[in-house]
Amino acid sequence: MNNVDLKNLIKKQKKNYSLDQSFYTDDYIFQLDLKNIFFKQWVFVGHISRIPNYGDYFLFNIGKESIIIIRGNNNSIYAHYNVCRHRGSHICLEEEGNKKLLICPYHAWSYNLDGSIKSARMMEENFNKTEWSLNKCNIRIFEGLIFINLSDNPNNFDDFISPTKKFIEFHGLADAKIAHRQFYPTDGNWKLTLDNFHECYHCQPAHPEYCAVHDSEYIIAYGAGSNTGPTSKKFEKMLNEWNAKVEKMGHLTGEYVESEFNDYSRSAERTPLREGKYTETKSGKPIAKLMGKFKDYDCGYTSVGTSPFNSLLMCNDFATLFTFIPVSTKHTKVELMWLVHKDAEEGKDYSLDEMIWMWDATTIADKKIIEDNQRGVLSKEYRPGPLSKMEKGLEKFKSWYLKHLDLSLS
Ligand code: FES
Ligand SMILES: [Fe+2]
Repeated sequence: MNNVDLKNLIKKQKKNYSLDQSFYTDDYIFQLDLKNIFFKQWVFVGHISRIPNYGDYFLFNIGKESIIIIRGNNNSIYAHYNVCRHRGSHICLEEEGNKKLLICPYHAWSYNLDGSIKSARMMEENFNKTEWSLNKCNIRIFEGLIFINLSDNPNNFDDFISPTKKFIEFHGLADAKIAHRQFYPTDGNWKLTLDNFHECYHCQPAHPEYCAVHDSEYIIAYGAGSNTGPTSKKFEKMLNEWNAKVEKMGHLTGEYVESEFNDYSRSAERTPLREGKYTETKSGKPIAKLMGKFKDYDCGYTSVGTSPFNSLLMCNDFATLFTFIPVSTKHTKVELMWLVHKDAEEGKDYSLDEMIWMWDATTIADKKIIEDNQRGVLSKEYRPGPLSKMEKGLEKFKSWYLKHLDLSLS
């Protein structure tokens, strides 16, 4: 395949149908996806509480790139490409750890945590250390979330975060800590993984836990965000009544929908949980300290998408954060992070099992259906099929993706 073939293929894709097989299987397209889609987005890859002490670091690996995210002095957090400026060796080889100095394992050039070079043995007299700092990766911390952008020319972060800002801020994530983190390695293309995340058509057959916490009318109308399903008069009524109650409490209501195609694919909304549920637990009862600006339980749910690769699904007392990392044509790393108030103690202020119950079970079920989907899509008999009224979110994601890919080829 070359770019001309790909442009023709993009043109052939039908609205309200799934994509042609090559989009889920072709390595040439996958490499372009990384370069032209993932690398251009601001993506959150962790929370500051993962690296609380001076020298704590973790690696974020994507495609051929490896980024060292490390805490330095005065609460500064740096992101460096994990590539030695001498002859290119990876410097940090462990996924996470603590380092007071970044020493290359090959010839022992050493770097300070800010990326500047500390020492380089036996170099010529005219070697100028200041020219050989580690290459920086774009990084911004927002509400404790560590966002990176692998583009040489990143979009302005403030513009990017502005529409979802108030929704994230309300939950006080800057004053939170990671209660649990888990990977769900999924044998499916990143687009199949996200297709599944962008529709709730499958929720009724696949997710009894999700359906126990969320109202059936919400699932139809809003399951994958506002404007992603058919309108439900019943849910509209429920939402209006809840909005009135919540506004009286001084809490946030409302939604943000991207009005037209642009660089970003963001969304945010606050909606009520199923009647009688306070939070996303089996009993529906609160399990942890209230977070952020909540004065009391409003029994609501905040769903935020900052890019296709990240979602924040937040109750009043905990938040579940998703990062989708494309690994290869047929493999995606799904990472979930559960955040609670930083002063909350496990066993005393919150129960981990109850907190992770719903999204753990739901993500395990999603992993299975995505893998079954990928296997079927590989067949010589696979053809794109028609989408339902409950898959508008998938169509939105798909057309955003195709347009971006197409623009990057011109
Ligand atoms: S490659 Fe790093 S010191 Fe030589
Ligand atoms: Fe699902």
